[in-house]
Order: sequence, then C-alpha cells, then structure tokens
Amino acid sequence: MKTRKLRDLEVSAIGLGCMGFSHGYGPGPSDSEAIDLMRSAFDLGCNFFDTAEAYGAGENERLVGRALAPIRSQVVIATKFIMREPVPGVQLGQEIRRRLEASLTRLDTDHVELYYQHRVPESIPLEEVAEVMGKFIAEGKILAWGQSQATEQQIRRAHAITPLTAIQSEYSMMERIFEKDVIPVCEELRIGFVPFSPLASGFLSGKVKPDDSYVGDDVRRVITRFQKDNIRANQPLLDLLDAFAKKKGATPAQISLAWMLHKKEFIVPIPGMRKMERITENLGAADIRLTDGEYQQIEAELAKIEIHGNRTDADIAKLRDMK
Ligand SMILES: NC(=O)c1ccc[n+]([C@@H]2O[C@H](COP(=O)([O-])OP(=O)(O)OC[C@H]3O[C@@H](n4cnc5c(N)ncnc54)[C@H](OP(=O)(O)O)[C@@H]3O)[C@@H](O)[C@H]2O)c1
Repeated sequence: MKTRKLRDLEVSAIGLGCMGFSHGYGPGPSDSEAIDLMRSAFDLGCNFFDTAEAYGAGENERLVGRALAPIRSQVVIATKFIMREPVPGVQLGQEIRRRLEASLTRLDTDHVELYYQHRVPESIPLEEVAEVMGKFIAEGKILAWGQSQATEQQIRRAHAITPLTAIQSEYSMMERIFEKDVIPVCEELRIGFVPFSPLASGFLSGKVKPDDSYVGDDVRRVITRFQKDNIRANQPLLDLLDAFAKKKGATPAQISLAWMLHKKEFIVPIPGMRKMERITENLGAADIRLTDGEYQQIEAELAKIEIHGNRTDADIAKLRDMK
C-alpha cells in the first residue's frame, strides 16, 4: 500500500481502527481472531494501528500489543489518554505521565509513535498538555502527539507550544463539519488529519438495513444516524455511492474512502473492520483512483444531498443507562 505523511510520521494510506475489537460495536471476534485480523491487515500493507486507554478499559491496548509484538519495529501505534476533568490534588503532568506509562505497559512497548489527547475540554489546561507532550517527545516515550475533536483555535494554541502531528476527528461523507476550519488549519500548519468513523460506522458500505439490530455497548443502538427513519432518508447518499461504485468497479465503502483520500494528501482514514473480507475491501480503497472530474462530480452531488442523523458523544453516553 502507498504511504502518506502525517507531518513527519510515515504511515500506510489507510490505517486500522482497532476499537471495535473490544469496545463500541457490541460483541467482537475472539482475541485470537482479532490478533489474526490485525496481522493480516499488516500483511496487506497496513502499518498504522489506532487504539486508546478508554477502549475496553485498557483491554484493547493489551490486545493490540499482543498482536503487534512480533512486528513492533515495522508498525506505527497510536493511542490516547482521556481526561474530562482535572484529578483533584494531582498535578496534570504527573497524571498524564501515569496514564502514558500504563498504556505503554499494556501495549508491551517502551514508546508509541503517536499519542493523542482524546478530548480537549477547556477544564484541562491545553498549554500544559502541550508542554507535557513536548517532554515525552524529548524523552523518546512518544514520537509525536495529536488531539482528537479539537477546534481550530485549540489546534493553533497547542501547535504553538509543541507542534502537532495529527488531528483525529470524525469525518466522512455524513459528517463534514471539520471541512470548514479544521482541515484547512491542518493544511496551513502541516498537520495530518486522521478521520475516525470514516464509513459512518459502516452506513456508507450500503450494507446496513433499517431492521438490523444491535446489542451491548454498540453505539449503533443510540446514534441517530442509525434510526430507522434516518437510514431510509439517507438513501440518496447510498444511491450516489452505488452509481460511482458500479462505474469504478469498486464498492460503496471503497468509493467513500477513495473520496477522502483524493481530497488531501495528509488525510489518513482509520476504518474499523472485524472481518477479513472487510479488511480486504477497505484497504483495497487505497488502490481506487478517482479522477479530478469524478471527485468534483461527487462533491457537486454531495452538496445537493441532505444528511439525516449524526453521531454525538451525548447520544453515546446514553448507552450507560441501557441494559
Ligand atoms: N477519537 C475518537 O474519539 C474516536 C471515536 C470513534 C472511533 N475512533 C477510532 O476510529 C476507528 C474507526 O471508527 P469506527 O470503527 O467508528 O469506523 P467505521 O469504519 O466508520 O465503522 C466501523 C464499523 O463499520 C462496519 N464496516 C466497516 N467496514 C465495512 C464494510 N466494508 N462493509 C460493511 N460494514 C463495514 C463494521 O461493522 P461490524 O463490525 O459490525 O462488521 C465496523 O465495525 C475506531 O476503531 C477507533 O480506533 C476514534
């Protein structure tokens, strides 16, 4: 697979979002199957693996660490810490260091290539986080750092202290809010952009049906994009993808990934995939080339399509109170 640059960090053009192996999409494959899937993705040219301390309360990092141990020197691991409030009586830098050390232990490694602040609440002093990240880089514990779901201003403030390598935020044909100012600021400051949920939790594959049901911690139970009426109302988007898929001898999921790869050279999506055929399909999108004309045509058609429903942290929080 071709590679791309997130600032100075070289990664495969498409990465693997590992969250779903332990978190957020209901029951997943067994650990041994998940490990085989991650290694198979590597064999197909994917070297960029995304996890977080929050996924399965550390279980996901353990699994990713086990899967990648034999190929550790050939892969780029991204993980994240999440703090919504300061911990009373604990200095912020010490708290983040404790979390990083715990992630490294779970991942069975002495460093990670990319370490994100998973959310950027104003209650956590952003400048202090950026300084701490600079120290971790100087110590070699992380090679680079990033933010997730940051605003343009938060990116500018953080980058002025310790240059950012990547912004990881939700981006797909169904969620384009960051096109307005975040993707442009990434371009201006030479920061990579890593779309999460690039297939809108699988909706853009065209395989989701209104009567599909989901269980456990599956976000598709609560995000409005997966409400029956919205699934039906979003059919014009799938029709567009279908038409291009037929024309290009590709699948709708591949077209939606090829569209964002065409948009900017510094965009590196990380779809989640828990079946071998989906890994082959999604990674195969890196070989689908849209012409400038095709890309412009998709953009023009997208501008006419109204999107129904979304994916918000507030909706996902409702899962906590559901059986
Ligand atoms: N920074 C953040 O706050 C944040 C938030 C969310 C996610 N993430 C990261 O981003 C990664 C990707 O997010 P995501 O998992 O929501 O991405 P996604 O690729 O939009 O959705 C993943 C789900 O879509 C379905 N899917 C994927 N490819 C498919 C295909 N070709 N055909 C049919 N269905 C397909 C799969 O469902 P089934 O598994 O049911 O088959 C899969 O679990 C995560 O793994 C995580 O690492 C970060």
